Amino acid sequence: MPLPDNLLAPVASISRLQREARNGHRGTAILLTGLPAAGKSTLAQALHAELFARGVQSVVLDGDGLRGGLNRDLGFSDADRLENIRRASELAALLVENGQVVILAMIAPLLELREVFAQRLGDDYREVWCSASLAVCEQRDPKGHYARARRGEMAGFTGVSAPYEPPVQASLVLDTGMHTVDACLDRLLTWLGECAVLPKA
Ligand SMILES: Nc1ncnc2c1ncn2[C@@H]1O[C@H](COP(=O)(O)OP(=O)(O)OP(=O)(O)O)[C@@H](O)[C@H]1O
Ligand SMILES: [Mg+2]
Repeated sequence: MPLPDNLLAPVASISRLQREARNGHRGTAILLTGLPAAGKSTLAQALHAELFARGVQSVVLDGDGLRGGLNRDLGFSDADRLENIRRASELAALLVENGQVVILAMIAPLLELREVFAQRLGDDYREVWCSASLAVCEQRDPKGHYARARRGEMAGFTGVSAPYEPPVQASLVLDTGMHTVDACLDRLLTWLGECAVLPKA
């Protein structure tokens, strides 16, 4: 990505290839997208734990965690949602460059938002749609957000009063409404082998 005129790109003393060679796997970014309560954070942590057990370097960037820290100054206007994603994509790019498997658990509700990841990360970007239906997610409602949104206490809540545009070209679709966490994790791991991020099991 080109830098503004007054900046000089830092020169890395350790290259991405060197890191990947030492790690024994590629760096990549995987977005888990889906409705609130679709299971993104649950799956992200399950994948993270399994990768750790296998000696794979990974890091989870969770939407809630980012909004509690790096993006604490942002709200839910269109501009702020875009900035939320832009910062996440920059952070993900930095970590991928350092050989990490970056697991992003973020709603990223609109195609144009997910396009920010695609543009910034290029071939290092993979999109996984956690496709649990609105009915299932609302039934789960682990944070009570759907109930609050239905009572009119949460404006612009994705799925209720703000849109969720399903991915049209997800690299992988996981029906997190129908299948168990373990089954979805198995499918994720197999797929990561198929796309050569991990050595095939
Ligand atoms: N196949 C599955 N994959 C993931 N979660 C599942 C699955 N089946 C049931 N669940 C349950 O669904 C709930 C999903 O909650 P979770 O916090 O992971 O959702 P989320 O997508 O991160 O939501 P939010 O966008 O609000 O952060 C958890 O209670 C989890 O145990
Ligand atoms: Mg979550």
